[in-house]
Amino acid sequence: MKPSTLLMGLCATQALAMPGMESAMAEIQARDDFFLEARSTDLLGDLIGGVLTAVGNIIKAILQGSSAVGDGATYTAPGSLGSDACKNDALCAWSYIVKDMSTAFVGAVGCTDAARGAIRQGFHDASTWDKNSPYGGADGSLLLSDELTRPENRGLGAIGDQTKAWYNTYNQYGLSMADIIQTAAKVAVVSCPGGPRIRAFAGRRDDSRAGPTDMLPSPFQDAQSLIDLFVAKTFSAADLIALLGAHSTSKQNFVDPSRAGTPQDSDPGVWDTRFYSETLTSDNTTILVFPSDRNLATFSQTRAQWNSFAGAGGQIRWAPAFASAYFRMSMLGVDNMNQLTEITRVIPLPR
Ligand code: HEM
Ligand SMILES: *[C@@H]1O[C@H](CO)[C@@H](O)[C@H](O)[C@H]1NC(C)=O
Repeated sequence: MKPSTLLMGLCATQALAMPGMESAMAEIQARDDFFLEARSTDLLGDLIGGVLTAVGNIIKAILQGSSAVGDGATYTAPGSLGSDACKNDALCAWSYIVKDMSTAFVGAVGCTDAARGAIRQGFHDASTWDKNSPYGGADGSLLLSDELTRPENRGLGAIGDQTKAWYNTYNQYGLSMADIIQTAAKVAVVSCPGGPRIRAFAGRRDDSRAGPTDMLPSPFQDAQSLIDLFVAKTFSAADLIALLGAHSTSKQNFVDPSRAGTPQDSDPGVWDTRFYSETLTSDNTTILVFPSDRNLATFSQTRAQWNSFAGAGGQIRWAPAFASAYFRMSMLGVDNMNQLTEITRVIPLPR
């Protein structure tokens, strides 16, 4: 139970006896909820200083707390891929690549291995950036340089090959590698039952330089150094806890190769909060618990946030929190946000 819940209970019995107490308690509750959902509101890239375009203002608002979950608007292509009608419509080629992605990501028992790979791939491309980096981030360099040979990227080969094949088909219609990687991650999330439809923007510039090194976490790291690593990328500790829920759909191969294919929760095809509760309670035999996840689940500064996702109502809190934190992830290192185009309408609706 959250400390304030206990306080609320105590207060409720005394509220009549002590007028004014109710509003004081409401204030404490609000502050507590704020702590539990303390998202970063830091601005990024070309949104800092200067005049913003209309789309720049929209992205700024999302980074500062507007919902990162798309509405129900959909899109119909005006013509076949390659037709003039399609070439003249910024969303058209996107609608075709998203169909290809959905085919790869939606399986019989929820989302597929390709989907899990795509979610991790989006994180690993974007995360080669922090506030002190002059380059790196969501720039496609994961697949345009030799980054895939780095040990932290083991396991991304298959989704990398698939994504390069999409790039080879769709780059001629103007789709960048950086955008394809981030859009694939978002299509993959919503391909898992329970996954939110995260707002998507296109127009990122590619960079074929390998990103800065030592920017990705290890599954054996302690909680404080993991928080520091993510804070340097403008995430709050709460954002990190929300992001880690992606391990709801994860299967490891290299933490313990003798247990290759072992998932991090009992239903890796589904986007749910079992990962949070099972990381706390599992004996680490049927699923494999990463030490990093267990460390953050039990750390003084993050365990309240973890428990709020693990407990009753967790899914309702987690899905939008993940959407907001992953939206930020997808913009790390992007310095032309004022020139992007929103493509949320081509992202599939939640399943
Ligand atoms: C403390 C931070 C994190 C650590 C230490 C970590 C570590 C790992 C490790 C060791 C694996 C297994 C790789 C393998 O053995 O095959 C993995 C898988 C995965 N991670 Fe993370 N991760 C972190 C954060 C994230 C974030 C922020 C996301 C996405 C938002 C993410 C998404 C995934 C996914 C989807 C998989 C499954 C990949 C697959 O099944 O192919 N992780 N992570
Ligand atoms: C779970 O087991 C694996 C070995 O299969 C080990 O590497 C890992 O540290 C264990 N996790 C925890 C939280 O103890």
